[in-house]
Amino acid sequence: MPTAQEQTTARIPQRVIWLALAGAVGGFLFGFDSSVVNGAVDAMKDEFALSEAVTGFAVAIALLGCAAGAYLAGKVADHYGRIPAMKLGALLFLVSALGTGFAFGVWDLIFWRLVGGLGIGLASVIAPAYISEISPRHVRGRLASLQQLAITTGIFAALLSDALLATSAGGAGEAYWLGIEAWRWMFLAAALPAVVYGWIAFTLPESPRFLVFQGKEEEARKVFNSIVPAEETDRHIREIRDAIEEDKLAGQKGSVRGKTFGLQAVVWVGIILSVLQQFVGINVIFYYSTTLWKAVGFQEKDSLTISVATSVTNILVTLVAIALVDRIGRRPILLAGSVGMAISLAAMAVAFSTAVGSGSEISLPGAWGPVALVAANVFVVSFGASWGPLVWVLLGEIFPSRIRARALGLAAAAQWVANFAITLSFPVMAAGSLPLTYAMYALFAAASFFFVMFKVPETNGMSLEQAETLFVRKGSAA
Ligand code: BGC
Repeated sequence: MPTAQEQTTARIPQRVIWLALAGAVGGFLFGFDSSVVNGAVDAMKDEFALSEAVTGFAVAIALLGCAAGAYLAGKVADHYGRIPAMKLGALLFLVSALGTGFAFGVWDLIFWRLVGGLGIGLASVIAPAYISEISPRHVRGRLASLQQLAITTGIFAALLSDALLATSAGGAGEAYWLGIEAWRWMFLAAALPAVVYGWIAFTLPESPRFLVFQGKEEEARKVFNSIVPAEETDRHIREIRDAIEEDKLAGQKGSVRGKTFGLQAVVWVGIILSVLQQFVGINVIFYYSTTLWKAVGFQEKDSLTISVATSVTNILVTLVAIALVDRIGRRPILLAGSVGMAISLAAMAVAFSTAVGSGSEISLPGAWGPVALVAANVFVVSFGASWGPLVWVLLGEIFPSRIRARALGLAAAAQWVANFAITLSFPVMAAGSLPLTYAMYALFAAASFFFVMFKVPETNGMSLEQAETLFVRKGSAA
């Protein structure tokens, strides 16, 4: 393992940085496309005269598309390669941007959102798989965290582009450029990053690890030569070949199936990490924050400002994770993040329990308003510097290469389903009891601490093949 000194001083080849950044563009689309609906939803509702239920369905359906897309990504990427999966993702993003932008009615709009969801799901799997597979071990955490930086930037860019379009047109439902309403332009705007992503996919080399698994060693050697010092290429190829041999000896057939409730134990580790990442309620902040803040007495204008400020904080704290992940390792960051999330979520639960009044007259008395605000931001900081990026880093590195994309696809699909469950249940649960809802998220944050403590070994500084040994061959972590 490299020493801490080596880790901080080793230079990252420029080519690798470019490949990782290019791979992370999928993360940007993931963030952009999943948030762009925020600014469009009310205008869409008016234009097609939608009921609350159909509106909710049109918004949430994309998340189920994401789950299906993640699952599909695994199959496509392990069978045809990482790059074909990226190309498919770019096509789906483009078609969905044009389809939603020019939607005739609610049913085709719902269909195009489902198509967009498939693209997001694909990108959520391909970016971490590709980045981990082209990254040298001593900087893999940093480079894989670029995915989260791209997701958070995408969320912010969507909020900003929605706000700019709505302001310039005088409202999301007003006609704008070429007589097309602003809300339609919000979706059409996503076509631009989709085209860039597609173009990038045509310029990137295939993952060298995928190539070795396909028996294309010469091609793999060329890619490795461009990203690691020449003397390391042989070692990498040897390690991957050994891993394949050991898999064969151990009777692993390159399948995610196994003896732990039908799956390999490592796949469960990925699924549980994913589900916990969502069950702390992070997306309640991103999807409903305006409603949340209004519900406890803030004005609409202030609530919007708070939401934008939160999305900027979310980008900035990712940089903390990027700075630390290859220095102090994955476990300490995740554990600290769990503690920060559990405390801040519990503080929010307490603050919300003090609410007085009812309906639009509700408010938090005395210092409880600021306490809730500070706690919510501590929560976003704790998440954004730890579980946000690191779950994607781990999903990229804990699975054996032979099943990486499929296992990642399953774990990411579980993440999208968990996201869907939280998104759908929040309004109902909050109407029942906001403090209890937050107490539940706090409990999941506490559970996340113990899960990492007992089930997630440190992978910092290891090659993907060594990391795989930790989780799979020397008996499993779960
Ligand atoms: C999660 C998303 C979330 C985002 C917020 C990502 O790691 O997968 O569900 O919206 O973080 O920053």
